[in-house]
Amino acid sequence: MAVAGSGHENWSSRSAFILAAVGSAVGLGNMWRFPAEAGENGGGAFVLFYIFCVLLIGLPVLLSEILVGRHGQANAPESVRRLARDSNAPEGWSVLASLGVFAAFLILSFYCVVGGWVLYYVGVFLGDLFQTGLTGGAFEGRAAEDIEGLLPGMFGDGALMVGLNLGFLAVTMFFVARGIASGIEWVAVYLMPVFFVLFLGITIYGAFTGNFGQAVSYLFTFDFSKLTGEVMLAAVGQAFFSLSLGVAGMMTYGAYANRDTNLAETSGIIAGADTAVAMLAGLAIFPIVFAAGLSASAGPGLMFQSLPIAFQAMPFGSLIGLAFFIMVFFAALTSSVSLLEAPTAYVFEKFGISRVAATLIVGLGAAILGILSALSFNELAEFRPLAFIPIFAEANFFDALDGVTAKLFMPIGAILTCIFVGWVADAKLIDEENGLDGVLHQTWRALVRYVCPLALAAIMLVGLFG
Ligand code: PFF
Repeated sequence: MAVAGSGHENWSSRSAFILAAVGSAVGLGNMWRFPAEAGENGGGAFVLFYIFCVLLIGLPVLLSEILVGRHGQANAPESVRRLARDSNAPEGWSVLASLGVFAAFLILSFYCVVGGWVLYYVGVFLGDLFQTGLTGGAFEGRAAEDIEGLLPGMFGDGALMVGLNLGFLAVTMFFVARGIASGIEWVAVYLMPVFFVLFLGITIYGAFTGNFGQAVSYLFTFDFSKLTGEVMLAAVGQAFFSLSLGVAGMMTYGAYANRDTNLAETSGIIAGADTAVAMLAGLAIFPIVFAAGLSASAGPGLMFQSLPIAFQAMPFGSLIGLAFFIMVFFAALTSSVSLLEAPTAYVFEKFGISRVAATLIVGLGAAILGILSALSFNELAEFRPLAFIPIFAEANFFDALDGVTAKLFMPIGAILTCIFVGWVADAKLIDEENGLDGVLHQTWRALVRYVCPLALAAIMLVGLFG
């Protein structure tokens, strides 16, 4: 539905907005990146600091971003420009969102690569279900190395990797090209509820069949000595990645929100749902992995290697595996559409071209860049584009993009957003949007003005140079 004056479609209801924003937040970040990061960064210390980051930094920034979007009613850089203009501040502040739009484009290019792997595993488990039948474990009679070998096997086939990447990107483009109501909102409203049902089912299954106690103690035992600068930066980066912050995504979605939506309440729901899913994903994945006697530190291989091996020993393994990867595919798609929407909205509003043309242009760019990420695991494995930065010294192209966006672009985008919303923009205009009063309002303002930018700057410094 187009809204008078704004010139673009809006969400058809408050719940559609919430589902779309939760859909953006909940994705590969929760199901794949969170357990991998937690495993690589020592478990409990990372997890508790992550929760701290979500509450004290992520949530206030989330509200700030959504309210900038709703005030501006336009693509992210234009929304910032309008709020700056209405506050008699320099319009050049829009650069904070331009950086974000660019970062969203970068993330999209490698996000679709992982989305492609998910599609591959949907195919693998579907094939296995036909072969081994419903009731037995997955991959009957196959050696663990064989199952583990599926991932390097896929990595080794460059054409397959590029094809999967393009396949996932094409599905994303299809829905973004259709617009808000019949594209982005459609995926959120139909796929997110299915996701939640499958997700709860698999979590309960994991709790009953796996080693739940060990997973709980792994994720929630807090060991201060493990909390290094690098772990803290990883946790902040993960919190931002998971909440879709610092890259204009939530600003873009906020622009389609109606005036009567309470943004503070909505932000709370988004952050709460996202964090709950991340924790439950950890509690679903680690018990299954521990029960199979596998290690938590398998990193990126956790979801794609350890979990399939674990499904082998489980009753209904192929079916559960299939349901699991379909669920991850749904979650990934509702996130990738938001990553594509931020640059697409910018391109079509800025250059006055159609949404379909803008989707094609941005999508084509992401496809070309994505090839480098898709080939990072074999053909371009030795290519280390950021070898001159110590913490990215070992990173291939894919890891470098992932690291730079989560550890640099996102925190920097958030620091600039905090300074803009907390110090530059007219406080009256901000207060009209945020839906907070009393102590909560004071607290939010103090967090945005002082705590978030200072904490982020400190964590970035310690993480990068400490
Ligand atoms: N939050 C998404 C996830 O956790 O998978 C990833 C993401 C989506 C990041 C949209 C940024 C964004 F703008």
